[in-house]
Order: sequence, then structure tokens, then C-alpha cells
Amino acid sequence: MHFSIPNGFLMGVSTASMQIEGGEVNANWNDWYRRGFIKDGTNPATGNDHWEKWQEDTELMAQMGLQLYRFSVEWARLIPEEGKVDEAAVARYRRELELLREKGIRPLLTIHHFSNPMWFEEKGAFEKRENVMHYLDLVEVVANRFGDLCSDYITINEPNVYATSSYFFGQWPPGKKSFGSTIAVMENLAYCHIRAYEMLHSIRKEMGYEDTMVGCANHLRVFAPKNGKNLWHRVSAKLTSYLFQDALTEAMTLGKFPFPLRNWGKLPKGEYTDFIGLNYYTRSTVSGIGDGVREGSPRNDLDWEVYPEGIVECARQLYEVLPRPIWVTENGTCDNLDHFRCRYLCEHLAQISKSDLPFTRYYHWCFCDNFEWVEGNWAKFGLVRVDPETKERTIKTAGHFYSDVIKNGGVTEEMYEKFVAKQVYHVR
Ligand code: BGC
Repeated sequence: MHFSIPNGFLMGVSTASMQIEGGEVNANWNDWYRRGFIKDGTNPATGNDHWEKWQEDTELMAQMGLQLYRFSVEWARLIPEEGKVDEAAVARYRRELELLREKGIRPLLTIHHFSNPMWFEEKGAFEKRENVMHYLDLVEVVANRFGDLCSDYITINEPNVYATSSYFFGQWPPGKKSFGSTIAVMENLAYCHIRAYEMLHSIRKEMGYEDTMVGCANHLRVFAPKNGKNLWHRVSAKLTSYLFQDALTEAMTLGKFPFPLRNWGKLPKGEYTDFIGLNYYTRSTVSGIGDGVREGSPRNDLDWEVYPEGIVECARQLYEVLPRPIWVTENGTCDNLDHFRCRYLCEHLAQISKSDLPFTRYYHWCFCDNFEWVEGNWAKFGLVRVDPETKERTIKTAGHFYSDVIKNGGVTEEMYEKFVAKQVYHVR
């Protein structure tokens, strides 16, 4: 197998602050750890020390030839108490942005990636309409303090995953199980996204910049009926997709709030994204409420089906809502022994390269092994290994493969033989 990536297509990596920075912060995930909810007992505070090792990591990214870096700011660091901006944290993020630019790595800043400061969490976080102003204050701080160093922004990472994991399944903080709360959180996040979209554009415009790019990182899955001939399976696949992703995408992208979402803020219809941000991992096989995995399918270490065609299927769904350049803002896999990461990467990039859609960027998840939320550190998604004791970084085979893909503008037969040919997924 061999293929070339499209001309002008840029490639890099993605991370999130809570998952790699480490250090004690007063945030909901540190609290969730203290309350004993992390499966392997990992403490996010003893993470990968990226807060300290940002220079070393940036050098490593440059050495790997990465062209893009997506990362998030930690709200609890920037605004540790309501109304109080920590200028030292601002300065630290500014230095990171400056070094990235110096190295020719284009930053994409995520404003919210699942973690909330405790002062916000204790007020009821995104479940309460009156709290959206606190998120908008954060957006203002980000735009004013970093606007000269960064043109590209993600307002919110995976609002549907945040809303459902935290308020429907109750696995993430604050551990609620309520359909009504889940819908309220989705509505409020859509409101936040649209207002943030407008604010980022207007603040940077006042600063004299016309190149602002704002979007959301949408988590989409393929929802397939287990048995295509079974009406209930087909209906439940459509319904799950609608409630988990389709309705919310429409609200965030176009300001149209389909049932059951309500446009309480009376926001006008519009076009609220400059790019299509897609986080894609897997396909779910549906036979009722809840999701399953197709029998006999290739899987990763978290038992997620590997279904590379889905990256294009999901991008097409978003493109049909509003055609914009497509940025794969996350794609990657949990492969603890590095047995199939090259294959996963290769097969997903191959789908992108033969698609008729305007894919223009790809951010692999993740730059390095990290704190995988409620799973803890055991689940490894990194191109770079981090030693749990010494925190020493080592580029994995898949990291070397990715560097070669970037350098050669695709995958050659030799590269395929060297990195991919012998790799196999689990099949269950
Ligand atoms: C999230 C990441 C997470 C990854 C793998 C995405 O849903 O944005 O934070 O680590 O998937 O589970």
C-alpha cells in the first residue's frame, strides 16, 4: 500500500492540559481523583510534567517535524479564583506559544477541554444558564492575552462527550445521571460556543487581525444498526446519533436548536464555524439503548472498533451541515504495546487521502501518553512514551513513522513494509 497526502495538508498532534500538564490545580478532575473515581488510581497532578517540560516537549515536536500543535489552557490555572487572573500562568502559556511559533509549529488553542475550576464546578458548572458568563470571561481573557500569538481556536472540546459522560452516564464529574441535565448542558454549551465564536472574532479584529479561525472539536461516531434488517436496531441507531451528536452539531454550527434543545438565549441563526473540527475514533454498533461493538471486528485496547472508513463518513455528515475546510482535530488509538498504532494511523490517513472532501489538517491524538480521564494513565494513546518515574520522553515507533509520513508527504511501499505490514489489531 502507498499513498500521497493532499497538497498543502498539514499534520501535527493534539493534547489537553489536564491530561499532560501535571501539578496540583484546584479543578474538578483533581477532585474526582481525590474522591477515588479514577479506575487505576492515577493522580492527574503527577501527570507528565508538561507544565515544567514544555520547552523540551516543543523541541521534541520540532525534531519530529510536526507542523501543528493543538493544546488547551487550564481554566483553573488561568482563573484560579472567580474574577482573578493569574498573570504568571498567562506568561507561561505565552512563552509556550512564542516557542511554538519560533519553531514553525502552528498553535491551535482549545479554550475548554473537559476540566473546570472547582469554584465554577461548585456553582453548578454548565448545567446552570447563569454560569455561561464565567466561560465567556475565560474566552475574553484568552482572546486578549493570547490573541497576538494565536489565530486558531477551538471553543469547546467534544461538548456531547462532556455532557453525556458527566450528566447522563455519571462517570465523570459531577457524576449526575439525568436526561434533563444533559440536555440543559448541551444547550448551554451551544450558547457558549456561539457567543465565543463572535467574541474571538471581534476581539481579534479590534487588535487588527483578520485571520481568526474558530470552531468546535466535534466528537462524532458512526452509529450502525447491529442488524440492518431489524427496524428497532435501525431506529435506535438513528435516535442515538440524533441525541448524541446530530442535534447539537446543528445548534452549534447554525444556531438552529432542534428538539429537544431550546434556544433560550434567542441567538440568531448564522454560520458559527470557520472549519469543521472532527474528533474521530470509532464506530458503535447499536441494537437498543446504549452502544455496542460489532462481533469479530478489529479492536484497540479499550475494545473500541477500528473502522477507518468512518473518518470520512463522519466528516461528510458535518460537511453536509456546513461546508468548510475539514480539520481532524483528534484521531488516534489506545495501543499499550505499540502493536498497531502505525497501522491505525496509516489506514486513517489513507482514507483521508482518497476522499473527495476538503481535508486540510490532521492532529493525531496524542502527542504523548497521558491521563486518560476516568481510565487513568494505563490507557496509552501517545506517539511519545513517557516514563512513569523519570518522565523521560522516548519517541515510539509510531512517532518515527508519523515523522516519515510528514517528511515524505505520504506513505511509500518501503515505509509500509517497515512500519505497517506486520502490525495487527485485536479481533474479538
Ligand atoms: C478526548 C480526549 C481523550 C480521547 C481518547 C477524546 O474523546 O477529547 O481528551 O483522551 O478522546 O479517549
